[in-house]
Amino acid sequence: MSKESWGSRVGLVLAMAGNAVGLGNFLRFPVQAIQNGGGSFIIPYLTCFLLMGIPLLFVEWSMGRYGGQNGDHSTPFILDSMSGRRRWWKYVGIFGIFTNLAVAAYYCYIESWTLAYVWRSISGAFSGQGTEAVSQMFTDYVSLGTSEPIVFWVICLLLNTWILSRGLSGGVEIAAKVGMPLLIFFGLFLAIRGVTLTAGEAGAIFDGTEGLNFLWTPDLSSIWDFKVWLAAAGQVFFTLSVGMGSIQCYASYLRSRDDVALNAMSAGWMNEFVEVVLGAAILIPISVGYLGIEKVVELTQTGGLGLGFRTLPYLFQQWGPVLAAVAGLAWFGLLFFAGVTSSLAMGTPIMGFLRDEFGLSRERAAWTFGATVLILGAPTVFFFQYGVFDEYDFWAGTVSLVVFAMFEIILFAWVFGMDNGWAEINRNADMKVPAAFKFIIKYITPVILISVFLGSLLIDGGIIDQVTNKALHEELAATTDPVQRAFLEEKRMFVNGSRMLLVLIFAAIGFLVYRAQQLRDRNGGQRLERA
Ligand code: TRP
Repeated sequence: MSKESWGSRVGLVLAMAGNAVGLGNFLRFPVQAIQNGGGSFIIPYLTCFLLMGIPLLFVEWSMGRYGGQNGDHSTPFILDSMSGRRRWWKYVGIFGIFTNLAVAAYYCYIESWTLAYVWRSISGAFSGQGTEAVSQMFTDYVSLGTSEPIVFWVICLLLNTWILSRGLSGGVEIAAKVGMPLLIFFGLFLAIRGVTLTAGEAGAIFDGTEGLNFLWTPDLSSIWDFKVWLAAAGQVFFTLSVGMGSIQCYASYLRSRDDVALNAMSAGWMNEFVEVVLGAAILIPISVGYLGIEKVVELTQTGGLGLGFRTLPYLFQQWGPVLAAVAGLAWFGLLFFAGVTSSLAMGTPIMGFLRDEFGLSRERAAWTFGATVLILGAPTVFFFQYGVFDEYDFWAGTVSLVVFAMFEIILFAWVFGMDNGWAEINRNADMKVPAAFKFIIKYITPVILISVFLGSLLIDGGIIDQVTNKALHEELAATTDPVQRAFLEEKRMFVNGSRMLLVLIFAAIGFLVYRAQQLRDRNGGQRLERA
């Protein structure tokens, strides 16, 4: 079996940056920032980035390279190899497969919207439409009025599967080398447009800088609000792709003489540039320029995706048909490239696991991933209005990351041992890692992660409230309209159903990990690939 690895350092860093740079940078970040008060979000966000994000990048990159040396490319057996004789650690690694699979299930669906919206933008579907009509087009889209969404979704899954089946240097790396520069180019174009928007021009009521000021004027009023901190931590997780197992997997294809410290920083900071500079300079300045802050704040309350898909395509029309088509292509095109390079990163750990442990060929592993995402994603597509999508996002895209990161940092700093860990980070490093990080990784980051976990357990709307469907029950109690009540009852069924499905997936992965260990034991401790 051919040994998979990265073709070049540029390719690796672009692929890792592509993994991190995703829909989270352009859709999630601006909405989180607005919902959490703009300027009051930035300080917690940057603090979490420095004290939690960067340490986790060092940890995950070096874990990955370490695991790769033993031929392990997914978290169950990477954790296993780092934990000595404590054999249960590999089951913690289930998270690193589960998250990727369950996130891919809904992420690929949004990715397919961006493809459809590229098409709509260049074919002029929005021209001459009013604000209501453009918004309604999105409603119709996600309520599957036509088969168009399904077609785009399947195209998108096939594309991902095909790229994955071509391997790292022949597929993923090429996608990153093409997609990332284009994304930056589109992003710069829109950001310049957003920042230079002036009141009175093309119907705008405020300057583009109005939105930027809202975001960047430090505001200490909610600095002690724990909710803002949790949101900031959640965003740092999602955007950096930490706590998911996908960085470990990508890093496991490094060679042992490769650096991890500088590479981790290059990819991580590239993500921050795209998030904080580009991600902040498009959606917010343009929508605030046309609608004002109050209206934009209101729009983000009813679901974050609306702003990008309902509002922007309408606002672009104010710039005249040609520029509107170009802006639409740039916006949805950049979202598409951001999305694809991230969903490829979600596929790789699953493929790595299947290939390492069950000897699947690259093609088979890719198709297995594609088919599983099709099956798991179907409920989010067909029952979108019933909150299935949000349920996946809550468990897989929010909770699971924190739980996994909490375990892995304890493993790294306390079980594997901080001295060993520090040596791993610095082995062949092309930069000097500030010594303070040894202390931060050992003490500060674990404490932050444990607090984030406890906080998300107990906070209003947190894990406990979610499990008991608190918000849904409150809504039910307040609703008298029988039609609405019937809908909510149905919604509860779908929410509970999808939760059960997620538990089932988790258990199934657990079973596969168990089987893998059995196969290894039978092989005298060797994995199948080597047999
Ligand atoms: N970081 C990506 C974003 O900002 C999301 C992402 C990439 C992800 N890889 C992942 C989410 C793996 C879960 C699992 O959009």
